[in-house]
Amino acid sequence: MELQLIGPFTQLLSLSNLPEKGALQDSQLEILHHAGILIQNGIIQEVGVFSELKNKFPNAVIEEITEPSVVIPGFVDCHTHICFAGNRAKDFALRNAGIPYLEIAKQGGGIWSSVLNTRNASVEELTENVIQRATKHLQNGITTIEVKSGYALNLEDELKMLQAIHNANQTTQADLVSTVLAAHIKPKDFDGNAREYLQFIVNELFPKCKTLTNRVDIFVEETAFCIEDASWYLDRAIEFGFDCTVHADQFTAGSSVLGVEKKALSVDHLEASTEKEISIIAQSNTVAVALPGASIGLGEPFAPARKLLDSGACVAIASDWNPGSAPQGDLLMQASVLATFQKLSTAEIFAGITFRAAKALNVNNVGKLEKNYKADFQSYTTSQYQDILYHQGSMKPSKVWKKGLLIS
Ligand code: NIG
Ligand code: FE
Repeated sequence: MELQLIGPFTQLLSLSNLPEKGALQDSQLEILHHAGILIQNGIIQEVGVFSELKNKFPNAVIEEITEPSVVIPGFVDCHTHICFAGNRAKDFALRNAGIPYLEIAKQGGGIWSSVLNTRNASVEELTENVIQRATKHLQNGITTIEVKSGYALNLEDELKMLQAIHNANQTTQADLVSTVLAAHIKPKDFDGNAREYLQFIVNELFPKCKTLTNRVDIFVEETAFCIEDASWYLDRAIEFGFDCTVHADQFTAGSSVLGVEKKALSVDHLEASTEKEISIIAQSNTVAVALPGASIGLGEPFAPARKLLDSGACVAIASDWNPGSAPQGDLLMQASVLATFQKLSTAEIFAGITFRAAKALNVNNVGKLEKNYKADFQSYTTSQYQDILYHQGSMKPSKVWKKGLLIS
């Protein structure tokens, strides 16, 4: 297939040559000026000065950029729950009237009410919902999106959710990475205790969902699963060959340590993590995923991203887009707000929503602009990269490319 050359971009942030873990300064960002990106078959062949690439590859088809523009890799949202039906505006109002999130869950609202709505939805309806939300994400420059099940909590409907995510992935131009979160809470209609429910998932759902996903997640919390049951469950998931991730330390500290012990790809939330958890995560290869959208949605503290980075952790940032705790869904806005509250550099934010988020998904060819990476990138109409976070999410990408194709 023919070579394609896109540019010149006023600034190109490759996000190359940055460490996988630890604090970053903006002076470490590699910035190319008047840059071009050479692509073949949706894969980056070379990144360099546009005029030099033009001379070196005279046969390349040129897509010329005429406006001032900053190009950066497509974002990776490594934690979402965008496969759901219904909404939880009532929960939002209740929380703002002073009733805590965990209390609403105990009273039968919360996750359970989304489960009832999602069980009632058809696979087509759920597929359409995922496509619509993924399309919104794509327009905001997010080209890779993790999507969890976990609002069905029975065999048939968990499979329906995973099938809907699979079907949506065939249609949307974004890359969707699915995760089975049947261990979100113990469903109210399951006849047995929490351990028996987890055994049921392992015995019945794991063998059937292996063709639809290779990732397993569990919510470890007072209203969900305890550390002991989660430990047993993660061991079984590992035996089945799944990659693991944990909803950890959201309200109660401790489960992130379990995630690290089980070599989870990531431990996500961490709003309640203490010095002990921070130092254990920082010494591991497990990615710490901050979910500022849930902090904003619930009015809870932000994850200690600054301390995690300073201790040497790999910190990613994701939207957690879901109908309950994080209905807002705008990753760039949330990451920009996290930056102001946690004092994070632009380099730390961009790393956290690109290659560090890709590491949480075990995906190794997205999140940087360099040879052999997917040609997934986005440009903003400005000549200064700092403008992007400065606008706190209100500056949207003017162009988004997926595998070298201009899609919005
Ligand atoms: O990541 N904490 C658990 N799960 C989701 C919330 C799900 C919901 O409230 O519907 C989260 O915040
Ligand atoms: Fe979540």
